[in-house]
Amino acid sequence: MPAFTATAPAKIILFGEHAVVYGRPAIAIPVTEVKARAVVTPAIRGTQGSVHIQAPDIDLEDDLSHLPDAHPLAATIRQVLSALGVPRSPACIVRVTSTIPVAAGLGSGTAVTIAILRAYAAFLGRPLSDERVSELAYEVEKLYHGTPSGIDNTVITYAMPVYFQRQERGSPLIETFRVSQPFSILIADTGISSPTSTAVGDVRKAWQAELERYEALFDAAGEIAHTARQLIERGSPDLLGPLMDRNQALLQQMGVSSPDLERLITAARSAGALGAKLSGGGRGGNMIALIPAEKAEQISVALKNAGAVRTIVTRIGDRGAGE
Ligand code: PMV
Repeated sequence: MPAFTATAPAKIILFGEHAVVYGRPAIAIPVTEVKARAVVTPAIRGTQGSVHIQAPDIDLEDDLSHLPDAHPLAATIRQVLSALGVPRSPACIVRVTSTIPVAAGLGSGTAVTIAILRAYAAFLGRPLSDERVSELAYEVEKLYHGTPSGIDNTVITYAMPVYFQRQERGSPLIETFRVSQPFSILIADTGISSPTSTAVGDVRKAWQAELERYEALFDAAGEIAHTARQLIERGSPDLLGPLMDRNQALLQQMGVSSPDLERLITAARSAGALGAKLSGGGRGGNMIALIPAEKAEQISVALKNAGAVRTIVTRIGDRGAGE
């Protein structure tokens, strides 16, 4: 019996973070240059029902039966067994590795979940549709994130840009959309870890104190996300640069930028980026820049000189969904 392999990309928020919490649209895109990978191999001499998990990146090597229900890797495998109505797994080894930086707003946990869902279901002879993969990944996320928005599992499952908007009632609007002309985004990490929940909480307090001003900032960010989607679909990605700059100005006014982010953003623009902004919760974490592909190396060097601990260049729209 052969090994079954599946990979899943990382993700970033391109436009609309924070405003999205208040019902405005946001856009997330896949980052296919870094990946989580799951390989499921039959264990010829293993006993029926034994699933051996190897996750060298987190120093984990154990049997599924030894892991608590809440463990994300165990929860993922159990989720597949129950979704497919398989009472006992054929003996196998599930090996998980990932090149996605962890705790950096890049969706590494979700990508690992999705790679396992796909590889393990295929091993069981019951490959899952994208829709089912996204649904099951959402269920696993709920176990350790409480109330995830649903954007991460969608963008990572489909490996396509996602337009997302919370609705006043019911489930959010989540639409994948196509890229007519590919474009390049450079991601640079400030190396400063900043919990998204703190930034989100501070924005909430500021919004309560200055309702009108914040509502206007959120409206403007929502408009930008809306326009950006049209530009990406219609094939004018170069025009996204000024939109990134405008979104960054709004995020700064919301109070979620930081001197480290500003330094990297300024360095990217001076080195030839067409626009730049923070991505995700802010106050640290990553900044992103729209760049001409041929300047990737030069801008990357400029960002490292300005203090970036890591850069990733990703091309959006060159590949189809998944792998
Ligand atoms: O850093 P990330 O990718 O988890 O993004 C956070 C985005 C926020 O809008 C700030 C919060 C949220 O829940 O949407």
